[in-house]
Amino acid sequence: MGTGPAVIVTGGAGYIGSHTCKALHAAGFNPVTIDNLSTGHPWAVQWGPLEVGDIRDTDFVSDVMSRHKAGAVLHLAGLSLVAESARMLPSYYDCNVSGTIALVAAMSRCSIFKIIYSSSSAVYGVSADLPLTEDQPVNPISVYGRTKLAAENFLRDAARTVGLDVTILRYFNAAGASDDGEIGECHLPETHLVPRAILATLSQGEPLSIFGTDHPTPDGTCIRDYVHVEDVADAHVMTLQRSGHKTGSETYNLGSGAGISVWEVLNAVERILDKPVPVAVASRREGDPTAIYASTDKIQRDLGWMPHRSTIDRIVGSAIRWHRRAAAHQVRT
Ligand code: UFG
Repeated sequence: MGTGPAVIVTGGAGYIGSHTCKALHAAGFNPVTIDNLSTGHPWAVQWGPLEVGDIRDTDFVSDVMSRHKAGAVLHLAGLSLVAESARMLPSYYDCNVSGTIALVAAMSRCSIFKIIYSSSSAVYGVSADLPLTEDQPVNPISVYGRTKLAAENFLRDAARTVGLDVTILRYFNAAGASDDGEIGECHLPETHLVPRAILATLSQGEPLSIFGTDHPTPDGTCIRDYVHVEDVADAHVMTLQRSGHKTGSETYNLGSGAGISVWEVLNAVERILDKPVPVAVASRREGDPTAIYASTDKIQRDLGWMPHRSTIDRIVGSAIRWHRRAAAHQVRT
């Protein structure tokens, strides 16, 4: 499809992966998606080839890498739900940790040294010291967070011992959709706040459960750092474009830098749709830190990245356009 330098995008059929492929293509790369389609969607792969298979299958992955003459890997494939991670412990370790180890084995076979890894703010756990900087202690409180940290540690060791060039991007709450409405968030089932609030409001049906209004925050609801998915995608492109090969690892927070409460998200949805969000107050959700938001100074300084689109109104507005378009085209969200 594309004629630019090929890069492997594991999880390219997923939410963040597909937006990243779109941004890579716009920047002149040829994004080659590897995805087992366990949660991703073939329709989301529009900007480069789709190779259906599993990252744990080293023969398959190295064959894809050599056929496409890939020069780097963006590793976004993984299981990513805090709540289900406790119920699916072996699957989470197998996919997120063994999958990363197998992927690096395929990279070694093909002499690919550059990898950009999608990690998560879930590695930090609970911290009173906000905003979070990358050098703060990591102490994940969920199985999911521990698998992401284990994969980070493996990659840092691989950077030291086999000379990989590793960049770890710790995503905060990626949300929103492409500004042109072409792609957006589509998890089945959907567990994330922004799409759930929009879908509940558009349908005026089943209320949205607010997981706790008794948190020690100004309005009693949890605080998160919502970052526009297209800003997240741009960070991958900028990381890839960083010149030269180096050996070692670097870790960056990828957030907006703003702490936004659940109520503030719901207020934005109500304001933009001009309709009330039907809500029901529920108890706190296990594994939810009360408040978490990023310092983004490091990525701004080193890469010149800025969260240009990451206001809550722009995030929610883009997500609404996507859900309306998806409904009109009967995409299941
Ligand atoms: N929330 C509700 N009701 C809902 C859904 C969410 O009140 O129906 C609240 C949650 O309690 C939380 C906030 O909205 O306070 C955001 O929840 P999300 O499920 O949208 O996102 P999380 O913060 O749980 O998860 C995100 C990523 C994970 C990552 C985590 C790190 O999706 O991959 O941040 O903190 F691990």
